[in-house]
Amino acid sequence: MTRAHTFLGIESSCDDTAAAVVRGVPGDMVVLSSVVYGQTDLHAAYGGVVPEIAARAHAERLDVSIVAALEQAEMTLSDLDAIAVTCGPGLIGGVVSGVMTAKGLAMATGKPLYGVNHLAGHALTPRLSDGVQFPYLMLLVSGGHCQFLIAHGPDRFERLGGTIDDAPGEAFDKVARLIGLGQPGGPAVEEAARDGDAARFAFPRPLANKPGCDLSFSGLKTAVLRARDDLVAEAGGLHEQDQADLAASFQAAVADSLAGKSARALAAYLALSPSNPTFCVAGGVAANMTIRGALETVSVEYGAAFLAPPLALCTDNAAMIAAAGIEQMQVRAPDGMDLSARPRMPLDTQSAAMLGSGKKGAKA
Ligand code: KG4
Ligand code: ZN
Repeated sequence: MTRAHTFLGIESSCDDTAAAVVRGVPGDMVVLSSVVYGQTDLHAAYGGVVPEIAARAHAERLDVSIVAALEQAEMTLSDLDAIAVTCGPGLIGGVVSGVMTAKGLAMATGKPLYGVNHLAGHALTPRLSDGVQFPYLMLLVSGGHCQFLIAHGPDRFERLGGTIDDAPGEAFDKVARLIGLGQPGGPAVEEAARDGDAARFAFPRPLANKPGCDLSFSGLKTAVLRARDDLVAEAGGLHEQDQADLAASFQAAVADSLAGKSARALAAYLALSPSNPTFCVAGGVAANMTIRGALETVSVEYGAAFLAPPLALCTDNAAMIAAAGIEQMQVRAPDGMDLSARPRMPLDTQSAAMLGSGKKGAKA
């Protein structure tokens, strides 16, 4: 029987500075604390994450977030078994801040250090939230990520496909800006779409007829731009109903694209005959009820259980990094002081590299 371990997790790869303490064994863990300091206000004036500002904010807040996480867990550094830190992919300044902090703590305390791939953290979240058994199918959809993965084990992931350009959250944010809605764009578009006609604009479903599980969202974004320009040229501006219809039609196109490729991914995954077929979705975009509904429908059609872990564990956090550390310590040795920060770090080194890098950093 594996003994329970207590890990400190540290995450600083994008615009959230996070620390958490998680205790347990693989597939059965408890989050003792999870502190996330967001930076949305710092970047608001720039229309995207500014890497230099992000790196400085991480450097200023990492120690504060770690102290807060330990306090909330009612622990001190000596109670920890190990330290896990995101070592990539992400904005390099932030990742370096986290890795250096973790190395300093590991060296000072003599505790083992585990460098964790940020995407592995996301992909292993269903194990933390619900103890889901391997292999499961995972869709990561956020402002920086979009990929289908089969999770075979704590450090074995097979990428079936993903976006070849923008991530869906990025597309939501850009479309919100195009049609005059606020940021973050996802919730704003979802809200506007509630009163909209999803059939008014026939937006494309890019790559729908291409075999495989790859997706594309940049053409869709351009189609929204054209439709908006046509409306502005005709009427001199956008009416509230136009905004709602554009939002609803765009959201429907994203939901359709994701659902269509999910069907392909499910077919590939089910060919493995998993004993408890499960389709998990994580990332900020998974908060969208239309998209979540479309994914759940496909999952049910294919006979797989559908799971969306609680949003606080799906968006960037350090509990998922600590949990990934607990999973991975079973299958590999700790990292040394030569652990490096990597802006690009594919989860699946067997599959071909993905293209593109979003405003929030490398996608794979
Ligand atoms: O996972 P997340 O918090 O951060 C990373 O990107 O890593 O995801 C944020 C993204 C943003 O692009 C945001 O617009 C999108 O998720 N998002 C949504 C919704 N809520 C957040 N997109 C669509 N519908 C939503 N309700
Ligand atoms: Zn993330």
